This record gives sequence, structure tokens and C-alpha cells, in this order.
Amino acid sequence: MIQQTLVLVKPDGVARGIVGEIIKRFEQRGLKIVGLKLVKIDEDFSKKHYAAHIDKNFYKGLEEFIVSGPVVAMVVEGVDAIENVRKLTGATESKSALLGTIRGDYSHISYSHADERGISVKNIVHASGDAADAEKEVALWFSVDEIHSYKRAGDEHLL
Ligand code: CDP
Ligand code: MG
Repeated sequence: MIQQTLVLVKPDGVARGIVGEIIKRFEQRGLKIVGLKLVKIDEDFSKKHYAAHIDKNFYKGLEEFIVSGPVVAMVVEGVDAIENVRKLTGATESKSALLGTIRGDYSHISYSHADERGISVKNIVHASGDAADAEKEVALWFSVDEIHSYKRAGDEHLL
């Protein structure tokens, strides 16, 4: 099934200058970037995006982190894009993320290190977790006219 999913390069990824490296991985896999922008969100927007986590003990650190600088937001489209993108992203805890994934290749923080300091696990990217989240998150971050339909090389192999 052709799906759309939301990806964010979080403030740590933008600050480290690896936006291009991250986008490259989605493009390389054959996924299509159909929406893309640099955004600095505020606390209210964070609470909408991370609504499911507001009551968790890590939320305060997560909010401080996600509003700390601009993020690159994108809509990624492709066959089973949600699962494909989560696979490219890797496990939430960078220390546990497999090499070859974005989090595994570009970050190494552990839950225990983050929890001791009351900070977020800084893990470079966000990716929608499932179809319901993807639908909500794409609509939260992008208006319909910011998402573009076009043909890219390789589309012919999907038919
Ligand atoms: O981002 P992902 O879907 O993999 O994980 P999540 O469980 O939805 O958590 C959202 C974000 O909160 C993570 O990516 C981490 O940045 C942060 N987090 C944290 O700092 N400490 C935790 N124990 C769990 C999540
Ligand atoms: Mg999640």
C-alpha cells in the first residue's frame, strides 16, 4: 500500500548539519519526499505533536529538546512507507539502535544517561509510529497544498 508518513530531523540533527545525510537515506531506498520545510515549533505545538506522551516522565525533557531549535519536517511517501521509514530510523534508544539505521549511525545516548539528567534521548529523527499517527501527524505539520504529487525516477518499478 502506498502510504505517507511524517519524518522530522530533530534539533540535534539540524544542528549537526546532517540533514542531507538523512534525506539521502530515504531517497536512496526509493521513497519519495512529497513535503519538506524547516520549522521552529513552540511548546503548544509540541503538546499536539507529542500528545500521547504528555503524561510520561520524559515529556518535560522531550519538549525542551524539540522546541530548542528548528527541525526539518518532511512527508515521505512510498510502499509501506511507515514501516520502511521506521526501519531506516532504528530503535528509540540510540545505544540500542542497530548500525545502519539513522539513530544507530549518528547517535549513541542511552535511556539511563538521559533520565539521570532529566533530558530527552537525543536521537536525531522522529518518524510516525503507525498509520493512525501518520495520518494525524502529516495533517498537523502540513497543509494539503504543501504536499506535492510528482513522478520520480524509479516509480516505474512500482507498477
Ligand atoms: O521516537 P519514537 O517513536 O521511537 O519513540 P517514542 O516512544 O514515541 O518517544 C518519543 C521521543 O521521546 C523519543 O524519540 C525520544 O526522543 C523521547 N524519549 C525519551 O527521551 N525517553 C524515553 N524513555 C522515551 C522517549
Ligand atoms: Mg513515537
